[in-house]
Amino acid sequence: MPNRLDLPADFRWGVSTAAYQIEGAVDEHGRGPSVWDVFAARPGVVRDGQTGAVACDHYRRYPEDVALMRGLGLDGYRFSIAWPRIQPTGAGALNLAGLDFYDRLVDALLAAGITPLPTLFHWDLPQALEAPSTSGSAAGGGWLNRDTAYRFAEYAAVVADRLGARIPAWITLNEPFVHMVYGYALGIHAPGRALMLDALPAAHHQLLGHGLAAAALREQGLEVMIANNLTPVRPATDDPADVVAATAYDALHNRLFTDPLVLGRYPDLSAFGVGPDLGGSVLEGDLKLIAATPLDGLGVNYYNPTRIAAPTDPGLPFTEAPIEGVPRTAFDWPVVPDGLRELLVGLRDRYGAALPPITITENGCSVADEVHPDGTVPDQPRIDYLAAHLDALAAAVAEGVDVRGYYTWSLLDNYEWAEGFSQRFGLVHVDFETQVRTPKASYAWYRDLIAAHRTRHGG
Ligand code: BGC
Repeated sequence: MPNRLDLPADFRWGVSTAAYQIEGAVDEHGRGPSVWDVFAARPGVVRDGQTGAVACDHYRRYPEDVALMRGLGLDGYRFSIAWPRIQPTGAGALNLAGLDFYDRLVDALLAAGITPLPTLFHWDLPQALEAPSTSGSAAGGGWLNRDTAYRFAEYAAVVADRLGARIPAWITLNEPFVHMVYGYALGIHAPGRALMLDALPAAHHQLLGHGLAAAALREQGLEVMIANNLTPVRPATDDPADVVAATAYDALHNRLFTDPLVLGRYPDLSAFGVGPDLGGSVLEGDLKLIAATPLDGLGVNYYNPTRIAAPTDPGLPFTEAPIEGVPRTAFDWPVVPDGLRELLVGLRDRYGAALPPITITENGCSVADEVHPDGTVPDQPRIDYLAAHLDALAAAVAEGVDVRGYYTWSLLDNYEWAEGFSQRFGLVHVDFETQVRTPKASYAWYRDLIAAHRTRHGG
């Protein structure tokens, strides 16, 4: 059996974070409000009413965080750029002080020998694009509004113009599926809309935004990726009704966000009563545009598989079934490392030669970590999780899937969206009262793994 040390010699090791989850400094240097600032301030939507106003204070403490990354010996760092720092109202005038922060961060990373891998949108839309009534600048409706896609491409172009010469590859969007479902269908993330299937235009407009931004990035000679949250979908039983339900769910969760990029078409969503124009949002030429700039890499965020059964109520054509008999994370997510191999091999089988090279842009788990009196944080469950997933990844590579790198989620414990600070995903423990960073056992483990992999390949 191949293992993680057998990953290819030029395999890239990284960690991943996102702006709103770590930066804090939400009022600093002209940053405008994002949908997350507004959503998190609503009573009852986030655990313990917590917000990202301070988070890990990374905006000020980034030199310390880059030093931690240097200590790991990373090849790359995936972070996100906060659109409201660059364009406080989501359009027009640039806030140079906001851009300067990323400029400094990029310089610090390069000085540490780490390649920056920025994501342009990780859910923190400028609030002005959601609700113009409070700002008076745009049409509103967030990603339900087609105009947001064009604003996104403009923003991508200005950021790339400033930073592109130092950063070879860019990720447009993070997890458009999760953003659509949690933010627009269920209303449990910002902007808190609960539209169920009427949220689908938010999927199309994100993908359109990707296509337009991809063209702008490519024009500047840059490589383009997207980070999708993908899951292998398993029917609960081999009963045909469960299999049909699983196919429907797979179309919604996975294919909706990958088929248009790779094949230039949307999957069949008729099981949802949805036609190929996704609620009237798809206009002529859109799909061509979405696929026009081929992806240089497909980012895959993997956490767990999904088990699907026939519907139990008439609203949706599926129901989610529990995955039993496996370990669970502190978040109560099932731990199924082989699901990563299954997912990757499944992607290769589905798309064949059209599948772009893959980078794992997120994978990790939450553990109820505490700093022990001797200053250690023994997070063995995280080490077990990462080791098993990297071995599953090596198995997929041995089966012929082209995987170029792995960015674990996350460098730091951080703001876990609607869960506030209750779920710790970091290799580094953060005390949110004092901002003291304490590397966990998994930090040393990951550092040693990277070094051992390099040694093994003569590095
Ligand atoms: C997101 C991260 C999040 C992580 C763990 C992904 O869905 O991109 O922002 O913290 O999963 O839930």
